[in-house]
Amino acid sequence: MSDGVSELVSKLKGVVGDNHLLREADLTAGYSTDWTGRFQGRTPLVVRPANTAELAEVVMLTAEAGFAIVPQGGNTGLVGGSVPLNGEVVLSTMRLNDCQPVDQLAQQVTCGAGVTLAQAQAHVASASLDIGVDLAARDSCTIGGMIATNAGGINVIRYGAMREQVLGIEAVLADGSVISHLEGLEKDNTGYHFPSLLAGSEGTLGIITKARLRLHPHLTGRCTAMLAFDNVDDAVAATSALRRSVTSLHAAEVIFRDAMHLVCEHINSAVPVGANSEAWLIIEAAAPSDPTEELAAAIDSLGRLVVDVGVGVDSSSRKNLWQYREKVTEAIAAAGTPHKLDVTLGASKLADFVTEVPSIVSAIDEGSSVYMFGHLGDGNVHVNVMGNAGVEPPEAVDAAVLEYAAKLGGSISAEHGIGTAKKEFLHLNRTSAEIFAFRSIKHALDPRQILNPHVLLPSEDS
Ligand code: FAD
Ligand code: MLT
Ligand code: ZN
Repeated sequence: MSDGVSELVSKLKGVVGDNHLLREADLTAGYSTDWTGRFQGRTPLVVRPANTAELAEVVMLTAEAGFAIVPQGGNTGLVGGSVPLNGEVVLSTMRLNDCQPVDQLAQQVTCGAGVTLAQAQAHVASASLDIGVDLAARDSCTIGGMIATNAGGINVIRYGAMREQVLGIEAVLADGSVISHLEGLEKDNTGYHFPSLLAGSEGTLGIITKARLRLHPHLTGRCTAMLAFDNVDDAVAATSALRRSVTSLHAAEVIFRDAMHLVCEHINSAVPVGANSEAWLIIEAAAPSDPTEELAAAIDSLGRLVVDVGVGVDSSSRKNLWQYREKVTEAIAAAGTPHKLDVTLGASKLADFVTEVPSIVSAIDEGSSVYMFGHLGDGNVHVNVMGNAGVEPPEAVDAAVLEYAAKLGGSISAEHGIGTAKKEFLHLNRTSAEIFAFRSIKHALDPRQILNPHVLLPSEDS
């Protein structure tokens, strides 16, 4: 066993118990490789504390032993921030999986950081309430991980991203101290707002242990439509029109041509509507009563912008339409190891971006394929680049696509975060003064560089 690990293990045994200290490679492997398989690390130790007090002690003892820590929830992150790429100890939050009873009066709930999104959704459904953020990794991703990445997902146009859902937070800082502010008051101007600071901090400032979440009434009236378009401009124009006219608009998602053909192949289906189109929108309306008429009228008024339409009203036909969007990530993973470039563009720049990216990529590597899809209502395009025969594309592709997004005034990370994958590109969106301020915050809260020290901030010498 490597230096210092045995001593640390014997101290941690008294805190979390032997069963929750994993050392053998076959037990730690799943914690050391990311969901895409692109980021593969190694760890001397995975620790699984059961509650905040245990977690605080684990942080203190691990820091004292001189190890850095990678906090990990469901390990579904897509930017290489959740795995130990530099031999860190992995601190898994999966046992912090308790949901307190729903506060029906306030429409809020307090959940442990390791509660999965699906568990939280099921818990609040009993009170006819919903969590404001939803995404396809719901069965594995955790509330803590979603806050740490400020996850977006399919309902941002309605409820905002994860940051907007968090009314209070509890977290363990790098020195083992616990900050806890979980009252859930809608108005509370008593200084710095820890939920905002920790949302999107990617495990670099503190380990989230609990969160007080804002909930939303569960809307039982649902209608889903798939619209096909001849070109990207028309899809963007239709999204903008629908955002204005459909008050019950709940999701406006997009799949571009190559991604649609890939997912159809993956699920062994024909393209459901408009077989020769360039882009497809999945539009969902949700309201207390049936929103079908409102959505149908709005789609009618799009006129010739739309080439073809499929509508789902009952849950099985709606699920059928959604699978073409929700299974794209899985279809890409089945085809190989992509570089996942998650960008946002202003509405007026979206069509240029989507049209130009394939030639930008092929100028660097002719053999690479580009699959694009995303959350069009938010201007968020997921650009997935795959090298020939499913291998990783050259790194130069990432630089070219992200530089192009930034040149058009876009963001190099819409919702996945910076992680390790994009930290050397942070300067494309953030000034030196901003990065200096980021470093100052990190230094103030984690002067010994214990928490995810290789994530988010660029290397000092770059
Ligand atoms: P992890 O992957 O374990 O960790 C992610 C980051 O957060 C790491 O930096 C980690 O150190 C840190 N972290 C984790 N837990 C804590 C904690 N308690 N305290 C402090 N730091 C912590 N993302 C979207 O935004 N929108 C989508 O639509 C979306 N869809 C997805 C679909 C699929 C099929 C997959 C595989 C991923 C998708 N993602 C999406 C990405 C991913 O699910 C999110 O980033 C999610 O929020 C990560 O949660 P997690 O619990 O898996 O976190
Ligand atoms: C999605 O919107 O499906 C996700 O962000 C996952 C991905 O980008 O692959
Ligand atoms: Zn997404």
